[in-house]
Amino acid sequence: MKAALNLIFLLISCVSMAQQVKITIQESRAKDTISKHIYGHFAEHLGRCIYDGIYVGEENKIIPNTNGVRNDIIKALKELQIPNLRWPGGCFADIYHWKDAIGPKDQRKHIENLSWGNIRENNAFGTHEFLDLCEQLGAEPYLAVNMNSGTVQEAMEWEQYVNNENGSSSLTDLRATNGRKKPWNVKYWGIGNESWDCGGHMTADYYVNLYKRYATAMTSYSNTKKLYRIAVGPGTPDYEWTETVMKNVPARRIEGLSVHHYSVFDWSNKGSSFEFTDNEYYKTMKRAWFMEEFISKNDEIMNKYDPEKRVELIVDEWGGWYETMPSGGGLLYQQNTIRDAMIAGMTLNIFNNHADRVHMANLAQTVNVLQAIILTKEEKMILTPTYHIMNMYKVHQDALLLPTKIEENSTYHDIPAISVSASKDKDGKRHISITNVDIKNDIELEITTEQLSNISAQILTSNKAQHHNTFDDPNKIKPKAFSDFKLKNGRLTLKIPALSVIVFSETD
Ligand code: AHR
Repeated sequence: MKAALNLIFLLISCVSMAQQVKITIQESRAKDTISKHIYGHFAEHLGRCIYDGIYVGEENKIIPNTNGVRNDIIKALKELQIPNLRWPGGCFADIYHWKDAIGPKDQRKHIENLSWGNIRENNAFGTHEFLDLCEQLGAEPYLAVNMNSGTVQEAMEWEQYVNNENGSSSLTDLRATNGRKKPWNVKYWGIGNESWDCGGHMTADYYVNLYKRYATAMTSYSNTKKLYRIAVGPGTPDYEWTETVMKNVPARRIEGLSVHHYSVFDWSNKGSSFEFTDNEYYKTMKRAWFMEEFISKNDEIMNKYDPEKRVELIVDEWGGWYETMPSGGGLLYQQNTIRDAMIAGMTLNIFNNHADRVHMANLAQTVNVLQAIILTKEEKMILTPTYHIMNMYKVHQDALLLPTKIEENSTYHDIPAISVSASKDKDGKRHISITNVDIKNDIELEITTEQLSNISAQILTSNKAQHHNTFDDPNKIKPKAFSDFKLKNGRLTLKIPALSVIVFSETD
């Protein structure tokens, strides 16, 4: 009897393994552009993200730098075509006073970073250093104003200082004295951060009233881009918060609503970033897949008040979050494995497919913190598997979203194993990104397209979810060319390996 049952079980598994997932690319339904800002990043004064990460100081003679910022990091971020960078936090934004960090460095006020580790900071990296870095990178700056320990006046003045014309006020005179005559024209402004938690434990009603004061005071100057004000949204399925903001903030005072979602399976025991069980892998991926529901439900509420989708969703914190590794200097330093590549591939597909509402997303965080794209140790630097996914997916930036339909999707436990998104770029070239999060099973795929001619592909994969790059073996995980597919009469067939991300691109 037992032998017979085993045979039946084996047969069922063989049938399910042979299943072919069908993907149709529906080019005729295309209408939305995938904003390049979905591929944005976030850098907070936290652990070794800014100090001893991005910024090593002008006086550093060992690590090559430009104005104190590591040259290798500048090069790596430029390669990604980083579209925007959010700064200075996070929780830190709500204790940050921008005036402490301008002017001659030896006269800047030293502060205690009360959000993260009570570390002493000398404020050597401030507004000028950050905005100059963004200019060097060709990235849009996204500033978060202090809504908790700060004031409306302080936020207004920050905006005047960075955006108003030279000579408009004593603040712009001060900017010129500090070495910058012309304004930086900062468009993106976050008003508060997680105001339901580290940003002041406010109720939604209280937040909305305070938000309106900030959003009214922070106006667009005629010489700058129109201001894009981003209100705090939920970081849990607290859809009431979204409802309160959308219902009560006048349409002309809000451009974006921010939401946060981290792929954490248990906040009290987040698990190791590189030594985890299959079950922990699955639980992390399940949390990553929740992004789909989180965006859809917020969008549903926003549709009630804003069916034209004028107010955009800004997912300005996302990624995997595990236990801190003391060996990396503590404070949210973690390794980055194939599991993180799966989170990134799946999540970016979700964002792309919601291009009608999602305008921006910021992976937390750029260097040495959480799901970092870059890790540093003295003069060494590693590009993580997540970096490589961002690099492979950059082809979607500002491209036309091609809607996709998946039929007979294989499941990994109770989540879809395959996720996909497709686009057509400004040169008319099509791109398809596919992620298979199944930890064991390769999956047969058939992709039907209206037109697709010559294509090439890149794959990022490994046979263990725990695999990662180290300072001694920095290139263990990197993308490789993938040619194991057939393309005939608009039918693309392949077997996508377990734990892999593939991006197909049309060539000439
Ligand atoms: O990214 C780390 C922290 O996570 C941010 O400071 C905060 O906004 C969130 O809780």
